Amino acid sequence: VGIKELVMVSNRLPVDRAVDEDGNVEWKTSPGGLVTAVEPIVQQLGCIWVGWPGDAGSEAMEPFDVDRMRLVPVSLSTEEVEEYYEGFSNGTLWPLYHDVIAQPEYHREWWDQYVKVNRRFAQTVAGQAAKGAVVWVHDYQLQLVPGMLRDLRPDLTIGFFLHIPFPARRLFAQLPWRRPIIQGILGADVIGFQTVHDAESFRECAETYAGAPTHGNLVMVSDALDNTRQVIAQEFPISIDTGQFAQMAADPDIQRRALEIRKEVGSPKKLLLGVDRLDYTKGIRHRLKAYGELLAEGEIDPEQIVLIQVATPSRERVDAYQLLRDQVEVTVGRINGDYGSLGHTPVVYLHQGFSREEMVALYLAADVAVVTALRDGMNLVAKEYVACRLDETGVLMLSEFAGARDELDEAILVNPHDIEGMKAAFLRSIHMPPREQKRRMAALRETVSQNDVAHWAANYLGSLAAISEQRSTVV
Ligand code: G6P
Repeated sequence: VGIKELVMVSNRLPVDRAVDEDGNVEWKTSPGGLVTAVEPIVQQLGCIWVGWPGDAGSEAMEPFDVDRMRLVPVSLSTEEVEEYYEGFSNGTLWPLYHDVIAQPEYHREWWDQYVKVNRRFAQTVAGQAAKGAVVWVHDYQLQLVPGMLRDLRPDLTIGFFLHIPFPARRLFAQLPWRRPIIQGILGADVIGFQTVHDAESFRECAETYAGAPTHGNLVMVSDALDNTRQVIAQEFPISIDTGQFAQMAADPDIQRRALEIRKEVGSPKKLLLGVDRLDYTKGIRHRLKAYGELLAEGEIDPEQIVLIQVATPSRERVDAYQLLRDQVEVTVGRINGDYGSLGHTPVVYLHQGFSREEMVALYLAADVAVVTALRDGMNLVAKEYVACRLDETGVLMLSEFAGARDELDEAILVNPHDIEGMKAAFLRSIHMPPREQKRRMAALRETVSQNDVAHWAANYLGSLAAISEQRSTVV
């Protein structure tokens, strides 16, 4: 593939810590998409992965090996977790980049910790990467790493991929540290975004805040000696391992489980499903409002239709997330109190994470998947649902504000702010004739199978490899 060594860098290491019966600590790769994305390369070359192992204030850990990957932990103190992770990453950048749905907070101490932790990541990578290696840095928590790394190790080829949206220039303008952030990202050779629109917004900010002229997808970055580098900044929409989901969806045990799930929730005529991290960007409240009004107006019979809402716990120490949890749980309680009966619960709410197998069973059980994000980088739940619907039944309700919208034209598109529009979309999805379901789902499945995560990684790493090769022939 033209890559000598691959170093992945993300805030979290892609492993979960488990303690076995004898009290020994074991690490298992978490089934996330990023790991599967680079799987072919890992099988061929192995890879180094630098990231935070997830505990606050834990002792420094030595690198260790799991499944042909060398994992290099970056430990964070309690204060760093509070100010770099919960603070700047999730109290400043996350709301700002998601169109200010929640109010971003700007604190200089948070920024200082962000710089400090980003520097530690960059130094760790610089100490691990072989000469001429390809380094792929991920997401908003690490935007300064590409620039810092280029200063430390000009021999490396550096990629940066932003998994979340990049905001419009006039929102990004709020950030007191907009210049160093743009310059940090511009340290990369290839900058990837989820959508065309995100890439455009970024290029506008590169012009405004780094004085870097752009030509199409290229940004011209000059250093102090007036040497100019061409940086690619364009969309690379992420996807899922379509084959793996399809395989699990064909598994008789999982299919049996799907039937069982329908029975467990009272064998409704129609089963609706929402799957989200419990995050204010996901539009869970808007979805419940529309659904509750349909029940109140008698448009939905609570004995015949059930909504399962899986809300995986997330960032529970951040205020906005605690507030959201309270709001969602009050609303669910009201709906169930008002419209439930001894034998029927209209909204089955699960504040838990589930295994992949159980998720696939839920996707198979559901007649309608409901994605109503107010803003979302991509939204992989939409793609996972589609990948599991082997028989081409089922309806995807999809927010216009999710990156997935750019690819998934045949979904029932909704504006989550428009409650009347959402109510109409719910009814349309619930009552959609089988022929229309099939036509739409077939088209959706075609799209998702054409761009799976292996394809995404190959595209992205392909452009990095081309640059890396060029560089090694020049040197
Ligand atoms: C989003 C972000 C990821 C992040 C994940 C879970 O998908 O793009 O970078 O890892 O949420 O959030 P957490 O804060 O638990 O890592």
